[in-house]
Amino acid sequence: MDIQWYPGHMTRARRQIEKNLKLVDVAIELLDARIPASSRNPDIDRILRDKPRVVVLNKADLADPEKTATWLDFFARGGFPAVAVDAQRGTGVKQMVKLAGEQARPAIRKYMDRGRRARPARCMVVGIPNVGKSMLINRLAGKKSARTGNQPGVTRGEQWIKLGGGLELLDTPGILWPKFDDPQVGFKLAVTGAIKEQIYDPEEVCLKLVRWLLAEAPGALTERYKLDGPVGSELDIIDAIGAGRGFYVSGGKVDHYKTSVFVIKEFREGRLGHFTLDLPYQ
Ligand code: G4P
Repeated sequence: MDIQWYPGHMTRARRQIEKNLKLVDVAIELLDARIPASSRNPDIDRILRDKPRVVVLNKADLADPEKTATWLDFFARGGFPAVAVDAQRGTGVKQMVKLAGEQARPAIRKYMDRGRRARPARCMVVGIPNVGKSMLINRLAGKKSARTGNQPGVTRGEQWIKLGGGLELLDTPGILWPKFDDPQVGFKLAVTGAIKEQIYDPEEVCLKLVRWLLAEAPGALTERYKLDGPVGSELDIIDAIGAGRGFYVSGGKVDHYKTSVFVIKEFREGRLGHFTLDLPYQ
């Protein structure tokens, strides 16, 4: 489902998350490993405040592994334990649960120091649409997972998924809005699939993508689409790809729309290579 964000929706989302944050010891901030900066909610630090946090770079299978390592280091230096995850295959998920448990420990200790009986540590997932929140929660819920049902102090309807080691996960993620005001961020959100086609122009996004690839990975397009001869303008390249695939409109011209949608899809699937579009320390 695609969400159109208006101020009212943002206020409601923020309130819901702030309410749920009161129930948990740790927030799991889910980002897209290909765009860790662009897929961050602009108000995340104000929303999470001093809530212990684990940063998850999801879809790491599609990102550049070296740049993912640089990002993990960047977050760790900033005081946020971070982990690369592929929620589709489950890679990194155990490490994420371990980190979340560690982050929750001080709160539990403090709680027990006040003479109370041990309680489970609790966490929730937050992130902008399409970073993989549902996939991660479903993976953690699995078939074998036990649900603890309603518990005192928990709004009816909320369920806790047992993660082992005394850690529980709220089954409802916090859905946050993306950054809106920077066209370059908009391009990165569109090209990775974080915003849907109805909102952006695929031909424009594809032109930018081709420009980006020519600068960052010059061989990627020529290799994938067997383009020979000198590399021309972005539009020449799109023409050559479309012609190679037989994407024409009547009159024998290349169908730029169809070609653009096709190239963007291939990019998202990692068929042009594994790329990270955001760099830390910029
Ligand atoms: P959300 O709840 O945060 O909105 O995201 P969701 O889990 O629905 O995941 C969004 C898309 O990302 C899904 O693709 C899902 O399969 C894919 N995805 C999630 N985690 C990973 C991962 O670690 N690696 C890869 N490669 N893909 C992942 P989809 O169903 O095809 O949705 P869409 O692309 O049509 O929106």
